Amino acid sequence: MSWWHSAVIYQVYVRSFADGNGDGVGDLAGVRDRLGHLVDLGVDALWITPFYTSPMADGGYDVADYRAVDPLFGDLAEAEALIADAHRLGLRVIVDIVPNHTSAQHPWFVEALSAGPGSRARERYIFRDGVGDRPPNDWESVFGGPAWTRVPDGQWYLHLFDPAQPDLNWRNPEVHAEFADVLRFWLDRGVDGVRIDVAHGMVKADGLPDAGRTGQSALLGSAELPYFDQDGVHEIYREWRKILDSYPGERIGLAEAWAPSAGRLALYLRPDELHQAFNFHYVKAEWSAAQFRTVIEESLDAVARVGAPCTWVLSNHDIVRHVTRYGGGETGLRRARAAALLTLALPGSVYVYQGEELGLPEVTDLPDEVLADPQWRRSGYTERGRDGCRVPIPWSGGEPPFGFGASSWLPQPADWARLTVAAQRPDPESTLSLYRAALRLRRELPAAPLRWAETGPDVLAFHRGTGFTCTVNFGSAPVTMPRPGRLLLTSTARSEFGGTGRTVTLPPDSAAWWTEPAPSPS
Ligand code: GLC
Repeated sequence: MSWWHSAVIYQVYVRSFADGNGDGVGDLAGVRDRLGHLVDLGVDALWITPFYTSPMADGGYDVADYRAVDPLFGDLAEAEALIADAHRLGLRVIVDIVPNHTSAQHPWFVEALSAGPGSRARERYIFRDGVGDRPPNDWESVFGGPAWTRVPDGQWYLHLFDPAQPDLNWRNPEVHAEFADVLRFWLDRGVDGVRIDVAHGMVKADGLPDAGRTGQSALLGSAELPYFDQDGVHEIYREWRKILDSYPGERIGLAEAWAPSAGRLALYLRPDELHQAFNFHYVKAEWSAAQFRTVIEESLDAVARVGAPCTWVLSNHDIVRHVTRYGGGETGLRRARAAALLTLALPGSVYVYQGEELGLPEVTDLPDEVLADPQWRRSGYTERGRDGCRVPIPWSGGEPPFGFGASSWLPQPADWARLTVAAQRPDPESTLSLYRAALRLRRELPAAPLRWAETGPDVLAFHRGTGFTCTVNFGSAPVTMPRPGRLLLTSTARSEFGGTGRTVTLPPDSAAWWTEPAPSPS
């Protein structure tokens, strides 16, 4: 089986992982220093968010030079050293490619502004005349407000995100050629894969028709929009697959694609396209057995049709951390730990977002003046944005910045002292220890498909092969069921699992892994 069919991939949000040079912002030197944590945790690969030259209007997702490292994060030699270090430690490296838009400070956009309407330089972006004083159509930016900004000569340009992130025109062959070259640039430096930012966005519907409704960003991933998930994007991935396949080893393409259904998402994973796509439908499931069962079944069915592995993700740098999504506080953490065991028992590949192995919650009380996410400004200061899941990692010590660096660009809560890596490492009950144990045991799970066991409404139970069962009680009351075998690992204290010899009582909001032959299907 290929490595990416079952890999656990750890997401490093580089600004918030570890600060190697003491300026309060995480950087590549910091990642190099802390690779030992990833080896100790037991992941297979790391995906590093953009570290390229950028004015940082969107934390680096606004790239001004795709082949250079921003001085905030290091330099090219540091990136090469990081790739080499990771490989030496047995970790694969995935970098982030941002092809839907550039920075407004990218030389192409600077040229497009000065070259004027009708120029070849404007053809690299999506410039249009407006309708009277209004933008060319009703498209809205994902960060709020219209998706169009007017330039002094009267034309408008499209930006599905911030005005500092103009959308590229993927109907222009020059754009294809440039990104083929960028891909090669990083593949030549040995990266094992690329994560493709906004992979569903590059091709817009012919004629740029109105979306016909407002509140478009709330529809992301659930409805059809004329600027997302258009069939034309698949041509790009067929081109890119050929490039990936032309390199030795198995280099992968991984789509950040928001598609309206698991079936539409699976199209990105056809054998001549990409290898993996984030499963955002899984992220959207609320803490209930029924919702998780539905999304797991739909996800597995959809990828089976194209012969691709499923992926599972609970958190990333764009969404509220799952401890908080599942209720926050003790309950949220308890559920998050159960969700981790559930997720790591499923067949496929799993993404772990930095800090989830520590059980970090969303930071919901960041002061207004530190908020850096463009969503905050663009929404007219109504949406606080994504900074709450981007607070720097607490590594050690009793007070902020908890070993992150000399300071931290977002303040960490004082009570994270008990959540540091150093505090959790020796504690067998900690969330870090749970992840370490689960990642170790996961390597020995049967590579068999999932087979559901029938249970009561609040419980999910499934077997993998004949020697492994996972049970999850989503309910707030204990549930008794036939004992599936011998306990291997539990998300909450083992003493909470009661029952007689033949039965087990699953505590509320808990998951367990069981070994020994499961009952054969009758
Ligand atoms: C993706 C990134 C997000 C960024 C956006 C625009 O969704 O994950 O952080 O803001 O693309 O590049």
